[in-house]
Amino acid sequence: MVGEARRILVTGATGGIGTAICRQLAGSGYSLVLAARDEAKLKALSDDVTGNGHMWLRLDMTSDQSIRQFAEELAAKHIALDGAVLMPPQAHSTNDPMPSSEAWRALFQNCFIGPLEVLKVAIDRMSSDPINGRRAKIVIISGISSAQVLGHYATSNVLRCAWIGEAKTLAFALGARGIHVNTLSLGGTLSPWYREGIEKRAEAAGITFEERLAEETSNIPLGKYGEPAEVAVAVEGLLSPFSDHMTGLNIMHDGGFTRSY
Ligand SMILES: NC(=O)c1ccc[n+]([C@@H]2O[C@H](COP(=O)([O-])OP(=O)(O)OC[C@H]3O[C@@H](n4cnc5c(N)ncnc54)[C@H](OP(=O)(O)O)[C@@H]3O)[C@@H](O)[C@H]2O)c1
Repeated sequence: MVGEARRILVTGATGGIGTAICRQLAGSGYSLVLAARDEAKLKALSDDVTGNGHMWLRLDMTSDQSIRQFAEELAAKHIALDGAVLMPPQAHSTNDPMPSSEAWRALFQNCFIGPLEVLKVAIDRMSSDPINGRRAKIVIISGISSAQVLGHYATSNVLRCAWIGEAKTLAFALGARGIHVNTLSLGGTLSPWYREGIEKRAEAAGITFEERLAEETSNIPLGKYGEPAEVAVAVEGLLSPFSDHMTGLNIMHDGGFTRSY
């Protein structure tokens, strides 16, 4: 349990991984600002994670107008943040290494520039005071293509690396304010949409879900994909005093799959 209720913004709150993170943090006494696009899902989640004055706000990270409105609502409600979990929208899986300029512009806008605007809004609401032990923690959810090229995630290879550069730059710039910025790079994690992908690949190969899962995880040292609840525990660690002397790190959460140093 944490002492006083620290308030954390969780974007992508209603997704498979976001929901697990919200449950974990709410259970540990954090006060949450839940953000995503679908209001009905936000309402259902906020009923699910009761306690400590949680609130939800609609946010579309690909829309400048939505981000402006989100910033205004946080300001109007005088919301101070102790941290943020940022989940930039995922670029679709593709093996095209040279998409058109138009496609790149849209990808950078939706997966990097928009979410970075959201992060700037969150940073503006952070009231860290490191001399008195009050630190703010940012965790950016990334993927393993941040450290190792994946053939079927050609555009993610670039976008994830952009986030690593930005996270390290922000960590350097914001360290004196007691604002920490780390990225958590996920390997395959069994959220509902990821399970659906395995189901489709299994069907296409004419094998069962379990057979396909065993095939896909055979080259992972721990022999399994991650669970959303495992990601949630790691995120909580990075928001906690565990990371009081850690910033600018890209941490692999992939069962040992990534071999790079
Ligand atoms: N699962 C994996 O294997 C895996 C691996 C590597 C990285 N990741 C990363 O982990 C994160 C979560 O994955 P997940 O499996 O939990 O996916 P998910 O279930 O599809 O959840 C995505 C979440 O993001 C929200 N979202 C999507 N587009 C948005 C937008 N434009 N603006 C604001 N919110 C938006 C969704 O809610 P709305 O649709 O209502 O907005 C939802 O809450 C993603 O960032 C993904 O890149 C996942």
